Amino acid sequence: MNSDIEKLQQMIDKSSKIVFFGGAGVSTESGIPDFRSADGIYMMDYKYPPERIISHSFFLEHTKEFYEFYSKHLYAPQAKPNAAHYKLAELEKAGKLSAVITQNIDGLHTAAGSKRVYELHGSTLRNFCMKCGKSYDVDHVCNGGVPLCSCGGIIKPDVVLYEEALDEETVNGALNATENADMLIVAGTSLTVYPAAGFIRYFKGRNIVLINRDATAMDEKFGFIIHGKVGEILSRIKP
Ligand code: APR
Repeated sequence: MNSDIEKLQQMIDKSSKIVFFGGAGVSTESGIPDFRSADGIYMMDYKYPPERIISHSFFLEHTKEFYEFYSKHLYAPQAKPNAAHYKLAELEKAGKLSAVITQNIDGLHTAAGSKRVYELHGSTLRNFCMKCGKSYDVDHVCNGGVPLCSCGGIIKPDVVLYEEALDEETVNGALNATENADMLIVAGTSLTVYPAAGFIRYFKGRNIVLINRDATAMDEKFGFIIHGKVGEILSRIKP
């Protein structure tokens, strides 16, 4: 076990209220591209800027184009949890981890068995009619064209688009968990999107680590950084 993994293991052994804060890099080992890496979703050419496409106003004005992009790039029915998701669920089951806070909308932490998951940007697995509120599963939504409810209303995914606010209850839960954590593991995120990236400022505990393949916008805030693949790294940790 190399010295970084040993140090991470020692921190985890001494902690009982670990919070994990993750981003798209946690799901790349499940085959879902992230956003800002060289092969990321935002690096491809589109008719409109991708961060404009996944905005509230674009959803209302260009619903068909929104769903073309969303179904192609943000809906990943084939993806399965990877070692990172399973290890976090194990750590929670062992009473070591109190919460996962994720920016991801793929539902893979819950699929891996994690119980307390704060999905800051919502989930593709939840979809609602904008007119009557009826809920629909993701397959109904991503089968081409604009998904309509039996009442005729347009169905919208329960994901936080640009120009939309985060869910207050989710934010409060995530902040509370972070403030009470004795260890914060941040992984697979460029830490460039707010308010999510600002959450780590609420951590007051002693042990904080960043596990990320590339440098991030906030590296200087971390005394301990492991550059590598989070699934590979966490697979070597014992709960
Ligand atoms: N292990 C560790 N780090 C990884 C891995 C991996 N297997 N794969 C990718 N990474 C790192 C990349 O180096 C990159 O720094 O994960 C980071 C992913 O950064 P982004 O693509 O910017 O994703 P994220 O930080 O989650 O984006 C935040 O932006 O557009 C919004 O809503 C979207 O939730 C998303 C938010």
